[in-house]
Amino acid sequence: MSKLTNAGTFALGRRTVNRMGYGAMQLAGPGVFGPPKDPAAAVAVLREAVESGVNHIDTSDFYGPHVTNRLIREALHPYPDDLTLVTKVGAARGADASWNPAQRPAELTSAVHDNLRNLGVDVLDVVNLRVMGRVDAPTEGSIEPQFAALAELQQRGLIRHLGLSNVTAAQVAEAQHIAEVVCVQNHYNLVHREDDALIELLGAQGIAYVPFFPLGGFTPLQSDRLAEVAGRLGATQMQVALAWLHARARNILLIPGTASLAHLRENLAAVDLRLEPAVMAELDAVGGQGH
Ligand SMILES: NC(=O)c1ccc[n+]([C@@H]2O[C@H](COP(=O)([O-])OP(=O)(O)OC[C@H]3O[C@@H](n4cnc5c(N)ncnc54)[C@H](OP(=O)(O)O)[C@@H]3O)[C@@H](O)[C@H]2O)c1
Repeated sequence: MSKLTNAGTFALGRRTVNRMGYGAMQLAGPGVFGPPKDPAAAVAVLREAVESGVNHIDTSDFYGPHVTNRLIREALHPYPDDLTLVTKVGAARGADASWNPAQRPAELTSAVHDNLRNLGVDVLDVVNLRVMGRVDAPTEGSIEPQFAALAELQQRGLIRHLGLSNVTAAQVAEAQHIAEVVCVQNHYNLVHREDDALIELLGAQGIAYVPFFPLGGFTPLQSDRLAEVAGRLGATQMQVALAWLHARARNILLIPGTASLAHLRENLAAVDLRLEPAVMAELDAVGGQGH
């Protein structure tokens, strides 16, 4: 029985996950480029996350590169049956830590094999095609060649489910003509609300929406109103930001990232925070759009 009893669950294809998960990117080290600051602490964070009920971990072999997946393997292999590892392909790291597009079919195939090897599995649960372009927002353009290449790897039995990252509604629709899409991972949080309509659209189709940078990423969220609400509720600002996402839509899955046990505990507890409609409305206004 999961300890995240107030998290609720959502289906990622044939897998069911708690709506509070964990994003492993921060474990790779400063700049998401290894070596990690404290490998033993990273292993402890991963183990405690799973012991606390997390059964959805977001990763990529380009975190480190290879570092995050190897830490996940060291900490958690052999994996519990109910643990869903979601990875992403589409980028490669330069020796200078740069993030470079790696979207050709041969590069995607090689990335899938890197993930299989470093995670120590025969089949990847979910693979997101990370579309490049701008780092923090999608740009229009066909993704047909890339997504078709991943669909072929899925048909060959190397991948169970496919998802997309950093995409527009048009790109989701294009991909759906090629293969089923079970999740979309885009930049979204209390102050970054460009995907409001996309979240509804995906929710109506039973597709998960997984916000990256749920706490603001490399620039932590800052808002006077958030601070004021958190103070009133006796919670931290990060907990309120996560509770807002959790309440925002049933198809939102949370993957806050942290390398700290204290922050992990704080973040997981956010699903126990109830936000009344008036408080939701107050927080909605932080993004400047109301709801
Ligand atoms: N698809 C994509 O392009 C993409 C891009 C970025 C990220 N992601 C995924 O999304 C996940 C989440 O994004 P993210 O980790 O970049 O950003 P995030 O979850 O928005 O924020 C993480 C940052 O917030 C800090 N933090 C976490 N919990 C905190 C707390 N309770 N109080 C204060 N600070 C806290 C972390 O530092 P500490 O370590 O000190 O806690 C870290 O610096 C990643 O792990 C990754 O799996 C995907």
